Amino acid sequence: MTRQVEVGIAGEIAGGQRKLVFVEGRSVVLFNVEGTIHAIDAACPHNGASLASGRLDGCVLSCPAHGLRFDVRTGCMAGAAGLNLVRYAVATVGSKLVVTLDEQGAMRAEATEDSAVQHCASNQEKQKCKV
Ligand code: FES
Repeated sequence: MTRQVEVGIAGEIAGGQRKLVFVEGRSVVLFNVEGTIHAIDAACPHNGASLASGRLDGCVLSCPAHGLRFDVRTGCMAGAAGLNLVRYAVATVGSKLVVTLDEQGAMRAEATEDSAVQHCASNQEKQKCKV
Protein backbone atom coordinates (compact mmCIF):
# COMPACT_ATOMS: atom_id res chain seq x y z
CA MET A 1 0.00 0.00 0.00
CA THR A 2 1.29 3.44 -0.85
CA ARG A 3 0.46 6.84 0.46
CA GLN A 4 1.21 10.33 -0.68
CA VAL A 5 2.93 12.94 1.47
CA GLU A 6 2.70 16.66 0.79
CA VAL A 7 6.08 18.31 0.30
CA GLY A 8 5.09 21.66 -1.08
CA ILE A 9 2.81 23.74 -3.20
CA ALA A 10 2.53 23.29 -6.94
CA GLY A 11 4.45 25.99 -8.75
CA GLU A 12 6.57 27.05 -5.82
CA ILE A 13 9.83 25.78 -7.36
CA ALA A 14 10.82 27.95 -10.29
CA GLY A 15 12.58 26.55 -13.33
CA GLY A 16 16.16 25.57 -12.53
CA GLN A 17 15.51 25.89 -8.82
CA ARG A 18 15.35 23.32 -6.03
CA LYS A 19 13.84 22.65 -2.64
CA LEU A 20 15.16 20.44 0.14
CA VAL A 21 12.51 18.64 2.16
CA PHE A 22 12.60 16.11 4.96
CA VAL A 23 10.17 13.25 4.67
CA GLU A 24 9.98 10.54 7.29
CA GLY A 25 13.65 10.67 8.10
CA ARG A 26 14.85 11.14 4.56
CA SER A 27 16.32 14.20 2.91
CA VAL A 28 14.82 14.70 -0.51
CA VAL A 29 15.73 17.35 -3.05
CA LEU A 30 13.11 18.48 -5.54
CA PHE A 31 14.33 20.06 -8.79
CA ASN A 32 12.41 21.89 -11.46
CA VAL A 33 14.00 20.95 -14.78
CA GLU A 34 12.24 22.61 -17.67
CA GLY A 35 8.92 22.64 -15.86
CA THR A 36 9.05 19.08 -14.60
CA ILE A 37 9.65 18.35 -10.94
CA HIS A 38 12.10 15.58 -10.14
CA ALA A 39 12.79 14.25 -6.66
CA ILE A 40 15.97 12.55 -5.55
CA ASP A 41 17.48 11.39 -2.30
CA ALA A 42 19.91 14.04 -1.11
CA ALA A 43 22.61 11.48 -0.34
CA CYS A 44 25.09 11.01 -3.15
CA PRO A 45 25.36 7.34 -4.12
CA HIS A 46 29.15 7.65 -4.20
CA ASN A 47 29.90 8.49 -0.60
CA GLY A 48 26.80 10.08 0.87
CA ALA A 49 27.58 13.77 0.48
CA SER A 50 24.55 16.01 0.33
CA LEU A 51 23.49 16.75 -3.21
CA ALA A 52 21.23 19.57 -2.04
CA SER A 53 23.89 22.16 -2.78
CA GLY A 54 25.22 20.54 -5.94
CA ARG A 55 25.51 22.63 -9.07
CA LEU A 56 22.64 22.06 -11.49
CA ASP A 57 23.42 22.60 -15.16
CA GLY A 58 20.26 21.87 -17.12
CA CYS A 59 19.35 18.42 -15.89
CA VAL A 60 22.85 17.50 -14.76
CA LEU A 61 23.62 17.75 -11.08
CA SER A 62 27.23 17.78 -9.89
CA CYS A 63 28.02 16.44 -6.46
CA PRO A 64 29.83 19.09 -4.42
CA ALA A 65 32.11 16.51 -2.81
CA HIS A 66 33.91 14.79 -5.67
CA GLY A 67 32.20 16.14 -8.73
CA LEU A 68 30.39 13.09 -10.05
CA ARG A 69 27.53 14.19 -12.30
CA PHE A 70 24.04 12.75 -12.48
CA ASP A 71 21.03 13.32 -14.67
CA VAL A 72 18.26 14.13 -12.21
CA ARG A 73 15.64 12.98 -14.73
CA THR A 74 16.96 9.45 -14.97
CA GLY A 75 19.23 9.16 -11.96
CA CYS A 76 22.05 8.04 -14.24
CA MET A 77 25.64 8.97 -13.66
CA ALA A 78 26.96 10.99 -16.58
CA GLY A 79 29.52 9.35 -18.78
CA ALA A 80 29.40 5.88 -17.32
CA ALA A 81 27.06 3.25 -16.00
CA GLY A 82 27.35 2.43 -12.37
CA LEU A 83 26.11 4.65 -9.63
CA ASN A 84 22.56 5.89 -9.82
CA LEU A 85 20.63 8.43 -7.83
CA VAL A 86 17.72 7.24 -5.76
CA ARG A 87 14.74 8.91 -7.39
CA TYR A 88 11.36 9.37 -5.83
CA ALA A 89 7.93 9.55 -7.32
CA VAL A 90 6.61 13.09 -7.20
CA ALA A 91 3.40 14.49 -8.59
CA THR A 92 1.14 17.48 -8.46
CA VAL A 93 -2.16 16.66 -6.81
CA GLY A 94 -4.52 19.57 -6.89
CA SER A 95 -2.45 22.51 -5.67
CA LYS A 96 0.09 20.40 -3.81
CA LEU A 97 3.35 18.66 -4.58
CA VAL A 98 3.34 15.16 -3.17
CA VAL A 99 5.75 12.26 -3.01
CA THR A 100 4.61 8.68 -2.86
CA LEU A 101 5.70 6.47 0.00
CA ASP A 102 5.45 2.73 0.20
CA GLU A 103 4.69 0.68 3.31
CA GLN A 104 8.24 0.86 4.63
CA GLY A 105 8.39 4.61 4.16
CA ALA A 106 10.92 4.26 1.41
CA MET A 107 10.02 6.32 -1.58
CA ARG A 108 10.98 5.19 -5.00
CA ALA A 109 10.22 6.53 -8.38
CA GLU A 110 8.25 4.19 -10.52
CA ALA A 111 10.33 1.07 -10.64
CA THR A 112 11.59 0.12 -14.00
CA GLU A 113 13.55 -2.87 -15.10
CA ASP A 114 14.49 -1.19 -18.33
CA SER A 115 18.27 -1.12 -18.10
CA ALA A 116 18.47 1.45 -20.85
CA VAL A 117 16.48 3.83 -18.70
CA GLN A 118 18.27 2.92 -15.49
CA HIS A 119 21.81 3.22 -16.72
CA CYS A 120 21.83 6.03 -19.18
CA ALA A 121 19.83 8.74 -20.70
CA SER A 122 18.81 8.41 -24.30
CA ASN A 123 21.15 9.82 -26.90
CA GLN A 124 18.70 12.66 -27.37
CA GLU A 125 18.75 13.37 -23.64
CA LYS A 126 22.53 13.20 -23.59
CA GLN A 127 22.75 15.76 -26.34
CA LYS A 128 20.18 17.97 -24.73
CA CYS A 129 21.84 17.86 -21.35
CA LYS A 130 25.40 17.40 -22.49
CA VAL A 131 25.63 14.25 -20.40
S1 FES B 1 30.19 11.80 -2.47
FE1 FES B 1 29.34 12.56 -4.31
S2 FES B 1 30.87 12.27 -5.79
FE2 FES B 1 31.73 11.49 -3.95
